[in-house]
Amino acid sequence: MFPLQRNRRLRQSQAVRALVREHSLSPDDFIVPLFIVEGTQVKEEIPSMPDYYRMSLDLLKVEVKSLWDMGLKSVLLFVKVPDLLKDNKGTEALNPKGLMQLAVQTVKETCPEMLVMTDVALDPYSSYGHDGIVENGQIINDATKEILAQMALSHAQAGADFVAPSDMMDGRVEHIRELLEAEGFHHTGIMSYSAKYASSFYGPFRDALDSAPGFGDKKTYQMDFHNRKEALTETQLDIEEGADIVMVKPGIAYLDIIRDLANEIETPIAAYQVSGEYAMLKAAAAKGWVDYDAIVYEQLIAFKRAGASLIASYFAKDAVRLINNLS
Ligand code: PBG
Repeated sequence: MFPLQRNRRLRQSQAVRALVREHSLSPDDFIVPLFIVEGTQVKEEIPSMPDYYRMSLDLLKVEVKSLWDMGLKSVLLFVKVPDLLKDNKGTEALNPKGLMQLAVQTVKETCPEMLVMTDVALDPYSSYGHDGIVENGQIINDATKEILAQMALSHAQAGADFVAPSDMMDGRVEHIRELLEAEGFHHTGIMSYSAKYASSFYGPFRDALDSAPGFGDKKTYQMDFHNRKEALTETQLDIEEGADIVMVKPGIAYLDIIRDLANEIETPIAAYQVSGEYAMLKAAAAKGWVDYDAIVYEQLIAFKRAGASLIASYFAKDAVRLINNLS
C-alpha cells in the first residue's frame, strides 16, 4: 500500500534497475540464419532484406569465421537452388554433393565447433514452391515424410548437428528420428518448427530463396493463425516424436504462443524472428521513423520474457553489437 510500496524505488538508477532485471541477452542465445547460393565470390543483397545477403560457399567461410569470432556459435542453413534443379519431389535435396550438403561441410571444415542446423523442407527444391510433393493440387503428407527423412539423413551424413524440419507435415519428426537412429545418427538433434503458422511475414524469405508457392498458399499444412490451443498439441506431439528443440514461428506477433508453451513444456523453445519482421524494422529505420538499435533490443528481450530460450534472428549480429555496448 502507498507509500509503503513505491514501485519506482526499484527504477531510480541504472544500478538498481540492472540489479533487479529479470531478463538479458547473450550471444549464446542466437541462431544465425544463412542463405547460400551457387558460384564463387557471390554476395548478393536480398532486396527485401537490406544488409542481408545470399553468399557462395567461399564467402560462407569468411562469414562463419567472423560469426565465431563475435561469439555466435550456431547457424541455420538455407539454400537457393537454380530452377533447372527443381522438380516435384525435390530430388536435388538428396544429392550428397548438393549445395546444402556442401554448405554443411564448408562450415564444419572452417569452424568445426560451430553448431550447424539445416532447414528440412522441399520448398527451395520444389518446382511448385511447396514444402511437400504435389498431386492433383494437394500436398501429399506421407510420401513427403519419406523424402524429408532421407533429406535429414543426407544432412546428418554431411555433418549437420541438428536438422530443422520446417514443413509442418504430420508425423515427420518421428519418421526423421527413426531413420536417424536406424542409421546410427543418435547424436543428430532435431529442432522442429512445431508451431509454424501460415503467415504473411515470410514474404522476404521467399524472395531470398525464390521459393514462393507457384499456386495456392500453405494453409493446408502450416497452422491457422486464428488458433492458439492447437500450438500446444502440435508441440507436444513433436516432443513425443523425438524433437529436442521446438520452435514457434513467426516471432513478435506470436509471443502468446511462446508463453503458452513455456508454461506447459520443459523442452527448450526457439523463437524465429522471421524475414518480414526484419524487413519492417529495416524499412521504418531507413525512413528515420524508429530508433533501430533500441527497437531491435526491445524485441529480442521480448522473446526472452515470453519464454524463448533461443532465438533465430537476422538481427543476431546487431544483437551482439548491442550486448557489447551495454557491458
Ligand atoms: C521453408 C521455410 C520458410 C521459412 C523458413 N523455412 C518459408 C515458408 O514456410 O514459406 C521462413 C523464414 C523467414 O521468413 O524468415 N519451409
